[in-house]
Amino acid sequence: MLTNIHFAILITSDRSASGLRPDLTGSQLKELIEERHGVCQFIQVIPDDPAIIEEILLDWSRDDAIDVILTSGGTGIGARDVTVDVTLRLIEKEIPGFGEEMRRRSLEVTPYAILSRAAAGIVHGKLLVNLPGSPKGAVECLTWLLKPIIHAVQVLKKEITDCQANDGKNE
Ligand code: MTE
Repeated sequence: MLTNIHFAILITSDRSASGLRPDLTGSQLKELIEERHGVCQFIQVIPDDPAIIEEILLDWSRDDAIDVILTSGGTGIGARDVTVDVTLRLIEKEIPGFGEEMRRRSLEVTPYAILSRAAAGIVHGKLLVNLPGSPKGAVECLTWLLKPIIHAVQVLKKEITDCQANDGKNE
């Protein structure tokens, strides 16, 4: 359960930010988080602009009301897919396992998942995780990652110091 874990969701999409396509990913991620009793603090939809992405991620990383920052979109290989590049610039510690697990599980769903460069890491003590852009892909990936996300937040908040003592107890 995500009780007391506060999320902020950043949707990076030129089309959704300009109103060409309604964003469905943010609300579907929020629904999943709230179903598991987490709190969705912010959802923001912005263009695939590295300066804007960086400004918001830095802002949120310094906000004590947020535990986890999720991005959705811009993980692929298009010229405007820059979310991962900004993430890798900002994080102090990378956590490769999140991207590895997303690609491993997603490849069972679609061969195109190999194109997702999604990364994760720590910025100012907050967990930052990239998710793919499609509502289906983002929800699938977050579902697979919830358990390690809970554990990471507990470690970052120093609520647990012994990982073995917590093994399997946060579902
Ligand atoms: N992962 C899951 N689980 N399900 C999906 O449908 N779509 C893939 C991939 N990851 C997908 C997925 C596709 S088609 C692409 S191009 C990449 O994510 C990158 O998407 P993005 O640039 O929107 O982040």
